[in-house]
Amino acid sequence: MAGMKLGIVGFGFMGHCVAQLMLTIEEIDLIAVADTNPEQLKDAPGDVQVYGSMEEMLKQADINVVMISTPNPSHFEMVEKAAAAGKHIICEKPAAMTVAQFDQMVEITKKAGVIFTVHQQRRWDKDYRIMKEVYDKQTVGDMYIIKSQLYGVNGNMHDWHVYPEMGGGMLYDWGVHLIDQILDMIDAKIDSLYAELRNVINEKVDDYFKILMKFKNGITAEIELGTYYLTPKRAWFIGGTEGSALIDGFAGEGKIIRTRHLLENVPGKISMTAAGPTRSFGPPEPGLLIEEPLPEVNADHRNYFEHFIKAFNHEEEIMVKPEQVRRVLCVMEAVRESARTGDAIHFE
Ligand SMILES: NC(=O)c1ccc[n+]([C@@H]2O[C@H](COP(=O)([O-])OP(=O)(O)OC[C@H]3O[C@@H](n4cnc5c(N)ncnc54)[C@H](O)[C@@H]3O)[C@@H](O)[C@H]2O)c1
Repeated sequence: MAGMKLGIVGFGFMGHCVAQLMLTIEEIDLIAVADTNPEQLKDAPGDVQVYGSMEEMLKQADINVVMISTPNPSHFEMVEKAAAAGKHIICEKPAAMTVAQFDQMVEITKKAGVIFTVHQQRRWDKDYRIMKEVYDKQTVGDMYIIKSQLYGVNGNMHDWHVYPEMGGGMLYDWGVHLIDQILDMIDAKIDSLYAELRNVINEKVDDYFKILMKFKNGITAEIELGTYYLTPKRAWFIGGTEGSALIDGFAGEGKIIRTRHLLENVPGKISMTAAGPTRSFGPPEPGLLIEEPLPEVNADHRNYFEHFIKAFNHEEEIMVKPEQVRRVLCVMEAVRESARTGDAIHFE
C-alpha cells in the first residue's frame, strides 16, 4: 500500500494548524502546500513544495490526498478539481454552503472513486469525548437534557467570517462542530427542532444561536453559542434520573453529581432565601450531594487523521461519513428556516 502523501490547498490559519499536526503523525507525508497569497507560503516547512495555485499543485506534486482549507464558498470548486485529478479529499467544514451543493459533491467524488470526508475533527475534543462516554455508558441514568454551550468575548468576527457571501457567521463556523457532536452522540432521529439565530452586534452575519432539538428517544439537546456573551465559557450539562454530569472548560474539567438517596415523599422543609421562603429550591441538606469524577478519556485531533489513515488503507470505514455531514447541513438549513419563520421544524 502506497503511503499517504498529502497536499494542502489554502495555507492560512487552518492550513498551518494541519501542517503543524502532520509533524506529529509519521504515517502522513506532507508533500506540498498551495496558496494564492505568496505571503502565506513564506513559512512553509523547508522540505515541503510550495505552489501558487491548486491547479499547479495537482499537476506537479506527487500527492494522493488533498486537504482543502480555503474559505467556505470555494470548497465546491476545489472538491471538483481534486476529484477530477483522482485525489482523495479531506475538505474543511462546512463542506458546502447548502445540502443541494453537498449532494453534488458526493455524486462527483463517488463517480471519481475517491474518498470524500470532512474535517469535523471536534468529535475528538476532550470535553466532547468525556460527555459521549457519559452518554454511551448511561452514567447518569435515563437522560432528558444535554446542553452544549460556547460563549466568547470577541463579538467582532475576524477576516472573511463577517461577510455572508464568504460563508461567514458562527453557524457555518462553530455551528458545524457543535451540531456534529450532538448528532454523533445521540443515537436517535430528530423529532423536531426550534432555533434562534441572531446578529447581536454584527451587521450581516449571525453571532448568536440557540438550537433546541427534541430526539425520538425523549432526549432534548440544547446548543447555545454567543460571541458577545462577555463571559467566556465552554460548558456541557447532561441531566439524568441518576445524576448530573457537567463540564466547564475545553480541557473537560467537571464532575458528576448524585444525591445520596432519591427523594422520598417527605414533608417540605422551608428554607429562607433572598427571594423569600421556598421548599423546593433551598440549599441541599448537608451530605445529600455526592461528587464523582468524570470518566477519563484519551482524545486529541490526531485521532481524526489516525482514523483517516485506516480508511485510506482500507482497514476501516471512514469515520466522518458523507451521510453524517449531510445530516449536519440539513440541521443547519432547518435552523435557518426555524429562525426565519419562528416555527418548530418537524423532520426525520
Ligand atoms: N475544522 C476546524 O476546526 C476549522 C477551524 C478553522 C477554520 N476551518 C475552516 O478552514 C477553512 C479556512 O479557514 P481559515 O480560518 O484557515 O481561513 P484563512 O483565511 O486563514 O486561510 C484561507 C487561505 O486560503 C487561501 N486561498 C483563498 N482562495 C484560494 C484559492 N483559490 N487557492 C488557493 N488558496 C486560496 C488564502 O490566501 C488563505 O491563506 C474554512 O473553510 C474554515 O471554515 C476549520
